[in-house]
Amino acid sequence: MVKILIEVSLLLGVLVAGVSCQIETRNFTQWLDHFDENCTETWNNTYYIDESFYEPGGPIFLYVGDMQFYYTWYRLNSSHFIDIAREVGALIIGTEHRYYGESRPTADLTTDNLIYLSTAQALEDVAELIRFIRSSSPDLENAKVIASGVGHGGALATWLRQRYPDLVHAAWSSSAKLNALLNFGEFHTNTAQTIRIYGGQICYDRMANAFALLDEVFEAEDWDKLIEVFKLCGIEEDVSAEMIAGFFFETMATAIGQYISMMHAPGITTFCGYLERGQNDMYGLADWVYYAIFNSHGCLPASVSDLLYIYMDPDWFAPGSICNFILNYTMTADDLRYSIDNTNAQFGGLHPNVTRVYFTNGNLDSEKTLSILTDLNEETPADVIPYFGYGADYESMNRTTYEGVRNIQERARSLILEWLETEDVTEGPTESTEGTTTSPIGEIPTTTTDTGPVTTSEPVMTPYY
Ligand SMILES: *[C@@H]1O[C@H](CO)[C@@H](O)[C@H](O)[C@H]1NC(C)=O
Ligand SMILES: *[C@@H]1O[C@H](CO)[C@@H](O)[C@H](O)[C@H]1NC(C)=O
Ligand SMILES: *[C@@H]1O[C@H](CO)[C@@H](O)[C@H](O)[C@H]1NC(C)=O
Ligand SMILES: *[C@@H]1O[C@H](CO)[C@@H](O)[C@H](O)[C@H]1NC(C)=O
Ligand SMILES: *[C@@H]1O[C@H](CO)[C@@H](O)[C@H](O)[C@H]1NC(C)=O
Ligand SMILES: *[C@@H]1O[C@H](CO)[C@@H](O)[C@H](O)[C@H]1NC(C)=O
Ligand SMILES: *[C@@H]1O[C@H](CO)[C@@H](O)[C@H](O)[C@H]1NC(C)=O
Repeated sequence: MVKILIEVSLLLGVLVAGVSCQIETRNFTQWLDHFDENCTETWNNTYYIDESFYEPGGPIFLYVGDMQFYYTWYRLNSSHFIDIAREVGALIIGTEHRYYGESRPTADLTTDNLIYLSTAQALEDVAELIRFIRSSSPDLENAKVIASGVGHGGALATWLRQRYPDLVHAAWSSSAKLNALLNFGEFHTNTAQTIRIYGGQICYDRMANAFALLDEVFEAEDWDKLIEVFKLCGIEEDVSAEMIAGFFFETMATAIGQYISMMHAPGITTFCGYLERGQNDMYGLADWVYYAIFNSHGCLPASVSDLLYIYMDPDWFAPGSICNFILNYTMTADDLRYSIDNTNAQFGGLHPNVTRVYFTNGNLDSEKTLSILTDLNEETPADVIPYFGYGADYESMNRTTYEGVRNIQERARSLILEWLETEDVTEGPTESTEGTTTSPIGEIPTTTTDTGPVTTSEPVMTPYY
């Protein structure tokens, strides 16, 4: 909920900025179920294409869209990835993830209709589109595809490279969330550590005290106090104190982590500033929520049942309707654990079987521990950017100033240029399946490297976080 609000407010800043006309929106017909030959239903998958920089013989730069579909247009219009694409005369493609944006495979979002929402299906959608684009012109038949994305899109780019090494030549995965976890408590310890290191011990202690004071309010079930301090409206009388407390603490703690991930180091300064200026630490926290997160003028809606209702709504236009899958599905904790293990087994978790992927992350991103932070292998490097959170390196270099970000951006560019020059070793019929890759002068060539498809039996529902 909070995450959506922060992103939408960033998006509004983008929309007022004027429009570029080179990006075209098109449809591609996809199978509803790629893995059931008997299912012949199809749907329209929206994608974006920008041919204006393409020079015949050039590569394909594929921006992999995810549930944050509203960023796709923005990043296709202006991003470091697109700057590199322009430089090398690439055809630019942006995909839309099934079930998000205009790409609606089913009539509505009832639980039955959500079984087609899986990462395996989404990856196959992208693979089909690549096959189609490559077959659309002789120039593109052998075009190298460089995939890239941010967050879940970064994970999808990685998994495309892993599953379809013949289609995707290399990838740049920014803030990719690769590891599925049942209970991601580390999110909060990561946030706390970030506040302590970058905000200082005093700010950290204030935050801890704010939560301790809040705890006292809940202990006393002093709802009037809670309503006054946080300027709330709509607290239900019939919802248990435990439920309100759980909801409240989780939302608050998650908001702090996400705010800092999105706002980078200045977010910590703002957060600590509110704590410092508050009437006491709890009031400071409440002011931060009220002014910095919601930029609010009235009371903050705090009805748990209203929120659940929004998340259960099967209508396409309901904001959080995707979650009815989780809520309406009769899943036990064991089922969930099984699916999560299965997801990681299928995609490799923190050890994907890939080469030629560049993993970049921001040190202030509370979800960074779901990603790869150190080099995975010789051809799969990783870097972490201090003072920044989520996706900072994706901005066009015309908009970045901090050296720590720009160094990573330079490295992304030079790795992509290098990989565009790297040829896959084609194997003769009698040769072994292992290839040898070119390696820098003076280094011993490494044996093989290209990844094959991960063997899986069934597509598995993947939890979205
Ligand atoms: C597209 O990018 C240009 C700069 O490259 C910028 O001036 C313009 O505002 C952007 N448009 C949108 C809709 O983001
Ligand atoms: C793509 O398909 C959707 C759904 O069928 C439709 O609403 C939309 O107008 C189409 N877009 C284009 C560019 O054809
Ligand atoms: C498709 O239908 C045929 C004939 O009804 C059946 O034998 C086959 O198992 C079905 N395939 C799948 C994947 O369900
Ligand atoms: C896809 O969109 C086109 C218009 O772009 C429309 O004519 C067609 O009926 C749509 N197909 C499906 C399966 O919705
Ligand atoms: C970056 O800014 C320079 C100078 O204003 C301009 O020439 C160049 O086209 C810009 N690059 C991009 C990718 O927008
Ligand atoms: C939830 O499950 C019930 C019983 O299976 C079903 O009738 C209802 O339509 C489902 N609701 C949604 C939103 O999928
Ligand atoms: C990784 O991919 C390579 C190349 O396809 C394959 O030979 C190897 O068995 C894979 N390793 C694992 C652990 O799946």
